[in-house]
Amino acid sequence: MPTFDYSNPVKFHFGLGRHKQVGDIAHPYGKKALLVASDSSKPTGQLQAVQQSLTEAGVAFVVYDRFMQNPLSTLVAEGAQVAADEGCDLVIGLGGGSAMDMAKGIAFSAVNEGSIWDYVFGRKVGTRALPIILIPTTAGTGSEANRTAVFTNPETNDKKGLVNPLIYPKAAIIDPELMLTLPKRVIAGPGADVLFHALESFISKNATPFSEMLSLRAIELIAQNLPLVYDDVTNVAAWENVTLASSLAGMAIDCAGTTLPHALQHPMGGLLDVVHAEGIAAIYKPFMEYTWPAAPEKFAAIAKAMGVDTRDMSQEQAAESSVAAVHQFLTGINMVPTLTQLGVREEHFDWLINNVLTTMKFVLSNNPRVPDGEKIREIYQGCL
Ligand SMILES: [Fe+2]
Repeated sequence: MPTFDYSNPVKFHFGLGRHKQVGDIAHPYGKKALLVASDSSKPTGQLQAVQQSLTEAGVAFVVYDRFMQNPLSTLVAEGAQVAADEGCDLVIGLGGGSAMDMAKGIAFSAVNEGSIWDYVFGRKVGTRALPIILIPTTAGTGSEANRTAVFTNPETNDKKGLVNPLIYPKAAIIDPELMLTLPKRVIAGPGADVLFHALESFISKNATPFSEMLSLRAIELIAQNLPLVYDDVTNVAAWENVTLASSLAGMAIDCAGTTLPHALQHPMGGLLDVVHAEGIAAIYKPFMEYTWPAAPEKFAAIAKAMGVDTRDMSQEQAAESSVAAVHQFLTGINMVPTLTQLGVREEHFDWLINNVLTTMKFVLSNNPRVPDGEKIREIYQGCL
C-alpha cells in the first residue's frame, strides 16, 4: 500500500430537516453572518427557514444574493466588501455550487488583501478566512466537503479553482429535505457531476486507498439512486443516498482531484458560460474510451460499481463495459448533449485548447493517460 495522508476538518450534519438547526450550528462561529443565498432558496421557503433559525439562535445576518451559474470573481470582491462594511464575522452559503463557492470566496477575500486571482494562481497565500457554513440545496458539486471554490474571471475568461485549506467549511448541513422540489434539469446536471467527481477521483493518479473507498461508494450510491429521484423527486430515501454520495465524492476530489473531463470543461465554462455538468457530459464517452486502456483495473471496478455483472468478463471486457454503463446512466437522465447544443464551435478550439494546456494543466495531468493538444482537439471535434 502506498503511504498517504487523509484529513477533512469539516463537521458534517446529515439528515432530514437539519437545515432548521443552522442557528445553533452557526452560533459558536460568529455573531453576524453574510448569508449568501441562491434565488431558488426564496420561493421554496428555504431562505426563510434559515433566517428564522438564525434569528432564534441570536445570530444576526445580511443576505447577499448577487451571483450567477459560473460565479464571477468580481462579485466575490463585491460580496467581500459587503461583509466588511456590515461587520460580518461569519459566512453562510445556501444554494447550489455557485452559492457555496461564492460563500467560500467571500469568506476568504473579506480578510485577505488584493485580487483573489493572486491566491488562485499561487502568487500569494492567505492568512485566514471568516468561518464558513454551507447548506447545499442541490446534490452535485460536493463543495460543502472540501477546500475548493471555482471562479470565473470576466476579464480573461479564466475559470479556475481556489484550492486552499483556509476555505474548508467549519460545518456542512446535508439535508435531503432541501432537494424535494428540484426541477429535473437541476437533478440531472448536479447529479451527473457527482458521478463525474466519483469516477474521476477514482482513476486519478493522486487517488489513495482512502479516497478510492469514498469514490467507489459514491459511484454505487449515485448509480442506484439518481434514476430514482429523477423519476420521483419526492423519494426521500433515495435522496438521502444521493446527498450522501455528493458529499463522499466531494471528499474524494479533495484528496485526488478530478481529471480530463473537468480540465476540458472549465475553459468552456469560462469562455462560453457552458453549464458545468452539461459540458462535462458532452465529452464523457470519448474521454472514457481514450482513458480506460491506461487503467483497466480501475474501469473494471467502475463497471461493477455501476451495476454491471462483470463476473464472466475479462478485466478488459469489464473495463470497456464501463463506457456503455455510464452512457446509459447519462441517457436515462437526459444528459447526453452535444457541444454544438451547448454553443461550442470549431472557432473556439484554439482558445479552449490553449487554456486547457495552461490553466488546467495540473488537472489534466491527473488523468491516467494525458492527451496532447491534437488529441484534445480530436475529442472536442468528435463531440460537436
Ligand atoms: Fe464538477
